Amino acid sequence: MPKTLTITRPDDWHLHLRDGDMLRGILPETARDFARAIIMPNLIPPVITATDAMAYRDRIFNALPKGADFTPLMTLYLTDTTDPSDVAAAHASGLITAVKLYPAGATTNSDSGVTDIAKVMPVLEKMAQIGLPLCVHGEVTDPSVDIFDREAVFIERVLAPLKAALPDLKVIMEHVTTSDGIDFIKETAHNLAGTITTHHLMINRNALLVGGIKPHYYCLPIAKRETHRQALVQAATSGDKRFFLGTDSAPHIDPLKENGCGCAGCFTATNTMSCLAHVFENAGKLDKLEDFASLHGPAYYGLEPNTATITLTKHNTAVEFPDKINTGDGPVTVFDPGFPLYWSTS
Ligand code: NCD
Ligand code: ZN
Repeated sequence: MPKTLTITRPDDWHLHLRDGDMLRGILPETARDFARAIIMPNLIPPVITATDAMAYRDRIFNALPKGADFTPLMTLYLTDTTDPSDVAAAHASGLITAVKLYPAGATTNSDSGVTDIAKVMPVLEKMAQIGLPLCVHGEVTDPSVDIFDREAVFIERVLAPLKAALPDLKVIMEHVTTSDGIDFIKETAHNLAGTITTHHLMINRNALLVGGIKPHYYCLPIAKRETHRQALVQAATSGDKRFFLGTDSAPHIDPLKENGCGCAGCFTATNTMSCLAHVFENAGKLDKLEDFASLHGPAYYGLEPNTATITLTKHNTAVEFPDKINTGDGPVTVFDPGFPLYWSTS
């Protein structure tokens, strides 16, 4: 008898769906296993106003395969000039679930991001008042800070002061990649949670750089050393309610990844649940997978967990996933952890 595990249908609390042909090509990969996802607003141009978010949500619904059971949870891209009343109205109407803070220039398509947190304090104060969560890309952009230290320095320079100034603001530190991030979340009493990606649970910076550079492992925040990966696995599998899944699945077509100046982003939508089952099983914590992928996220966001379930099955032979998803924009390489995977979903 194959080993099986049935869990509440999971959600993805950090996802890039892009637009147009790319959206149509990759959306089925997420909608297959996931019921909901927090949709990142870093399009070109970004999703800044409620009107933008409404139009983008319509494009996502139109791109869904027939019969798919998937709800996009929309976000707004915070800029220096975001209007607090537009944000409040978008929240009141049920259109948006969170607002996203990108420090200007931190990552892919973040040029319109926030240049100084002081400029967005009126919006953040409003969000704290109405209970609207803030998703944070937690890296400084100061060119004098080493890329491997940008998360730790962000905590010290931006996140800790922000938590102190606005303790009522519900914050999600996204794609935590360091033990510093894990520790900061554990030490902060209220209104701070962290998402962890699939790939950061599986690869460290050696995977990216040893034996030749691997562009498909390049993402931001960049993968850190092995001790940090172990801290992430420990947190994700611990049952601590403040940690949950945000895949940060971020497709780029191969020519833009396999390039002299390659784009940041790993595409994990296709095999995330198989990867996670592998990680949790290896840690002896398969019983905590449902917490991480299906229960802690909705609880933090104040939503009900999904009522449907998915079943994971462990096979004796490796499960085959496509190497690439061929979209109308071009091929997107599926994350390859570098070893066989044995779990499938249905
Ligand atoms: C993301 C993208 O491609 O949009 N890239 C990434 O490496 N994670 C942006 C982001 O979330 O940082
Ligand atoms: Zn992202």
